[in-house]
Amino acid sequence: MKKYMNKKMINTPSADGGNLKIAVQKKGRLYDGSMSLLKECGIDVSNGNNQLRVQAANFPLEVFFLRDDDIPEYVQDAVVDIGIAGENVTAEKNKKVELVEKLDFGKCRLSIAIPKSGSIRSMADLENKKIATSYPLLLTNYLKEKKINATVQEISGSVEIAPRIGLADAICDLVSSGSTLFSNELTELETVLRSEAVLISNKNLSAEKRTQLDKLLFRIRAVKKAKNNKYVLLNAPNEKLNEIIQLLPGMKSPTILPLAEPGWSSVHSVISENDFWNVIEGLKINGAQGILIVPIEKMIV
Ligand code: PRP
Ligand code: ZN
Repeated sequence: MKKYMNKKMINTPSADGGNLKIAVQKKGRLYDGSMSLLKECGIDVSNGNNQLRVQAANFPLEVFFLRDDDIPEYVQDAVVDIGIAGENVTAEKNKKVELVEKLDFGKCRLSIAIPKSGSIRSMADLENKKIATSYPLLLTNYLKEKKINATVQEISGSVEIAPRIGLADAICDLVSSGSTLFSNELTELETVLRSEAVLISNKNLSAEKRTQLDKLLFRIRAVKKAKNNKYVLLNAPNEKLNEIIQLLPGMKSPTILPLAEPGWSSVHSVISENDFWNVIEGLKINGAQGILIVPIEKMIV
């Protein structure tokens, strides 16, 4: 396991020691999402030179690019104040950190997978078999819970080839698109853990750092909320306005403006991504026309 930076390198005192220090995955599945999130929060972190430590231009934030597996420990030990990590890694490392916020990206699952053709067809078939994984703690706990007696073989990478080279009978690894399993002729048997990117924090932040974190969180929540909602504009026949308002609660209630054309109003509102298609269907049934759906950039309620 190659470390990108050791603790001493990070802990060197800097002139702006009051900055909030955040750890972000250096490369891998969470890198792009983490950088986009900071950008959408209006925090400018240009890392064109592939540096390991970058000071944000317009927010009191110092960004450290680290290996994902190291982030929970660094947050626990106050080497950094906060970090963006996968729930999978955070749970496996079992460090004393505070889970501050789910971030709605990097969704994947930790699953037990078996060879497509072979004698193992169920969890019970794993009895006395060997399972290769980089998540020994989570797998061991899961097997215990399911009362399956199997050997957990810890390997740090390329877990998916273990069955083919005779190293294990099954694997327990992250699945996102499923293409890695597919190309290795493996199939998912059971989900051990659902995971997404989370913001974790050291448990003993100073009051000053806590205030900075709250400022960052305020922005993160505004970005998340905006992504989960859409702005909707439509024309509604006045006699159906009540039904349409019922469908569109908006932030308080929808804005309704009379149109030049008699008997019609323009309605503006916000709907959640989850209800989206149901609401649209209801609007159509009630005679809404010219429906425009507009993405929201930030949403502060
Ligand atoms: C995981 C996992 C698989 C792959 C699955 O590795 O080990 O190789 O992703 O993704 P898929 O279902 O989309 O094919 P990851 O990229 O997290 O790298 P790491 O284990 O080295 O951190
Ligand atoms: Zn990793």
